[in-house]
Amino acid sequence: MKRIAIYPGTFDPITYGHLDIIKRGLTIFDSITVAIALDTPKQTLFSVEERLSLIQKVVRRMKNVEVKTFSGLLVQFAKRQHACAILRGLREVSDFEYEFQMALMNRRLSKRFETVFLMPNEKYTFLNSSIIRQVAQLGGDTSDFVPPEVTKALQYKFQSEK
Ligand code: COA
Repeated sequence: MKRIAIYPGTFDPITYGHLDIIKRGLTIFDSITVAIALDTPKQTLFSVEERLSLIQKVVRRMKNVEVKTFSGLLVQFAKRQHACAILRGLREVSDFEYEFQMALMNRRLSKRFETVFLMPNEKYTFLNSSIIRQVAQLGGDTSDFVPPEVTKALQYKFQSEK
């Protein structure tokens, strides 16, 4: 039986921190499905189609990684995908409370999955997508934090806004 983990999130945009978690996840699971949540209260910079295409581009050379979107409950999506776990990154202590709440709620919703937390390389612990968007909007260099395809997409997005 293949051990599939779902790595859910908004990915607006995907960063090296997210990729670090995916790579670490692949050492434990047979395959990882990156799952972009459609039902999010977050106002996103990139459309779902743009985020899907960006993630597909940046994981194209990684084996056993799929990218999908989902709506509704994460646990129901995970069940449809025959996954055994939900993968999340824990960057710092401040992530813990929110992640703990989500993991326990998901467990209440379905006992079938465990949430597995992995820590990214410490050089990515301060990263999040909002900070990347802000740096890019103000003309800063994002190339240390996101793959080249994402840097390009950010530059294009903010240039076309001007
Ligand atoms: N490296 C860099 N940044 C990271 C990161 C990492 N390893 N891990 C998380 N982040 C950042 C994200 O970029 C994001 O930044 P932003 O808020 O500045 O945009 C932030 O940390 C957290 O976002 P993310 O990991 O995308 O989670 P989320 O809170 O947006 O998504 C879902 C939460 C989608 C997983 C959750 O709402 C969900 O499962 N929804 C489906 C509905 C459901 O089942 N609800 C009940 C679940 S309790």
